Amino acid sequence: MSDLRRTAPAVARNRDPILDVLRDVLPASGTVLEVASGTGEHAIHFARGLPHLDWQPSDPDAEARASIEAWREAESVPNLLAPLEIDAAAAEWPVSHADALVCINMIHISPWAATEGLMAAAGRLLTTGEPLVLYGPYRREGHAIEPSNAAFDEDLKRRNPAWGLRLLDEVARQADARGFALERVIEMPANNLTVVFRKR
Ligand SMILES: C[S@@+](CC[C@H](N)C(=O)[O-])C[C@H]1O[C@@H](n2cnc3c(N)ncnc32)[C@H](O)[C@@H]1O
Repeated sequence: MSDLRRTAPAVARNRDPILDVLRDVLPASGTVLEVASGTGEHAIHFARGLPHLDWQPSDPDAEARASIEAWREAESVPNLLAPLEIDAAAAEWPVSHADALVCINMIHISPWAATEGLMAAAGRLLTTGEPLVLYGPYRREGHAIEPSNAAFDEDLKRRNPAWGLRLLDEVARQADARGFALERVIEMPANNLTVVFRKR
């Protein structure tokens, strides 16, 4: 039987720094909905590292969901749920409840409508005090863009003109419009940021 598990090399480098932040900002119990789970390696790692939470992975891509499911079968982590098909840009999501949302490395590599949809869904699903946690590279007003991020931005735009590094203030404006306050911006390795919003 073929092995559907995929790997993304960046995950091995960023999963522990991200997990450290998640331990600080996620609730003590409940369900975390991960949007754009990709290979599923983060989902495995975070579900294992946060056994008091249920981890709900998702991705709109069928091959990504097959990879997540293959990792899940191979590793048997009891609090890791079966992946859902969620397109962040969709007006309706097949989820009625979550206690936190996590979205890693999607906002720059999807059309802006995905960010708008993510924020709208976060506004519908989360209640006061619950967090929305983003991770990825951003542009920031008043900060010179790092050369590696400038090159990445150009490459993304070449691949798809609707992609590219977003201005953090614009993402924060979307979040604010859906009832979220910007709580923390944490500098991460390789010029990435973890951005924590919390529902007012
Ligand atoms: C660069 S990968 C990141 C995957 C994973 N989070 C990681 O960090 O390894 C981008 C992911 O975003 C997903 N994606 C793209 N457009 C999306 C959308 N509109 N809604 C949800 N996910 C989307 C892709 O299917 C892909 O799995």
